[in-house]
Amino acid sequence: MRHAARAGLHAVALLVAGLAVVQAPARTSGELDSGQAFDESQTHGPGDVKEGYERADYRTRSRSLLDRRGARKDLIRFALDPPLGLPPAPIPADNPLTRAKIELGRKLFFDRRLSINDTLSCATCHIPEQGFTNNELRTPVGVEGRSVLRNSPTLYNVAYQEHLFLDGREISLENQVWQPMTAHNEMAAPSIGYVIRKLRRMRDYEGMFERAFDGRGPDVLTIGQALASYQRTLLAADSPFDRWYFGGRADAVDESVKRGFAFFSGKAQCIVCHRVREDHALFIDHRFHNTGLGYAASVGGNRPETTRVQLAPGVFADLSRASIDAVTQQRLPNDLGLYRITEDPGDRWKFRTQTLRNVSLTAPYMHNGRFDTLREVIDFYDRGGVPNELLSPLIRPLNLTEREKRDLEAFLHSLTGGNVADLVADAFAAPIGDLGPEDPNWTHENTLGY
Ligand code: HEC
Ligand code: HEC
Repeated sequence: MRHAARAGLHAVALLVAGLAVVQAPARTSGELDSGQAFDESQTHGPGDVKEGYERADYRTRSRSLLDRRGARKDLIRFALDPPLGLPPAPIPADNPLTRAKIELGRKLFFDRRLSINDTLSCATCHIPEQGFTNNELRTPVGVEGRSVLRNSPTLYNVAYQEHLFLDGREISLENQVWQPMTAHNEMAAPSIGYVIRKLRRMRDYEGMFERAFDGRGPDVLTIGQALASYQRTLLAADSPFDRWYFGGRADAVDESVKRGFAFFSGKAQCIVCHRVREDHALFIDHRFHNTGLGYAASVGGNRPETTRVQLAPGVFADLSRASIDAVTQQRLPNDLGLYRITEDPGDRWKFRTQTLRNVSLTAPYMHNGRFDTLREVIDFYDRGGVPNELLSPLIRPLNLTEREKRDLEAFLHSLTGGNVADLVADAFAAPIGDLGPEDPNWTHENTLGY
């Protein structure tokens, strides 16, 4: 999508690029620099064309809207009958799943008009073709290039999480949606009421809420319930590992994966936190642990005086630490994790255990996106994390051999769900909330009654 395509640029880059555009040579209206006639239809459309956008020094994994080939799937089936390796999905009694709610939630999820300036949807940071996370940034970028504190977690299998966010501060998917929608550095809607009012005036939603919720229109509950319903269908399993371990098919994975799983559950003891049960595996324990990463960031590390930032393909600038800090949400990245919720000093730098399902698709890794590859994560655990007085006693040097590391990595790569392609194809078929001719230009016209 248009905004996802820009995801490769750093927050600072976006800001500075904004300034750079001002300095670009002014163009006489109706003419291109080359003197060709100006084709207005080229200035906007269903999505960005990426011709000439990528170069040897800049690649993106997000797809242009024009290249997307969608195919609608009957999503409710994934949630009611989860793929091999997953337990039954918890569905709250007061928000039973229906096709009408899922359809509505899916439309909301991809709708950019839910942000203050009609540019950002949930899918900007939870990009379907990037594991419903963002592979190109350690921490994603919200409205107007504002940076966000943490790495986007994958939304695959989020239905099973007992605590949401990496510090566990929210408890239900229904409530969670209001945080990104109203956070000033994410979708930046000024209030819940603002979003409700906007949705009530969008013609293409007419009747959809009422049909899904027995006559009830968009409100604080129904918007949350619809979005939660869509997210509960994003169950991805039936991976090669599942087919072998739960399905009993010896040939579903190779010997390296089997040895890797043996280290995972034996010598390396990963399984103590990333749990596997007899008949299913979520690879989480619903708990919070200090691996030392948050501590390491809090003591600063050696940050360079200047950092080279890419503004656009082939355009670089050396930015001082001060200019980077000026646009960073938190100057000293001392992210205290669970402590922010409990205020218990013993909880400093504890983060929720992340799932390992589909982990090949969800780089970069950890709460701050510190590692680009699974090998780096394995090396980190092998070193015993970063020692600090609150380090989990379960994290200790492992002394893995090169072959053990390779096997462990092969095992992690075997966790990609067999139905991922279906979920991505379905996402590609979703409408993306382009501002239509009937929509008022919310931010500049006084159509919301302010
Ligand atoms: C600007 C980027 C951005 C946007 C837009 C965004 N998210 Fe997120 N999302 C994140 C980040 C970053 C986190 C982790 C934050 C944290 O742990 O504090 C997150 C966390 C979540 C979680 C919790 C996942 C977990 O494993 O705990 C859910 C669910 C979620 N987002 C859904 C949504 C929905 C629904 C929308 C749209 C209404 C949305 N997000 C919009 C970046 C974004
Ligand atoms: C003490 C509990 C614990 C143990 C033991 C443990 N992990 Fe983790 N793991 C976590 C926590 C907590 C996180 C999230 C850390 C963060 O976000 O900073 C995590 C994150 C990860 C991630 C990144 C997931 C993502 O999407 O970002 C990978 C990969 C991983 N662990 C693999 C392993 C492997 C392999 C082992 C064994 C060598 C292991 N873990 C042992 C608790 C543990």
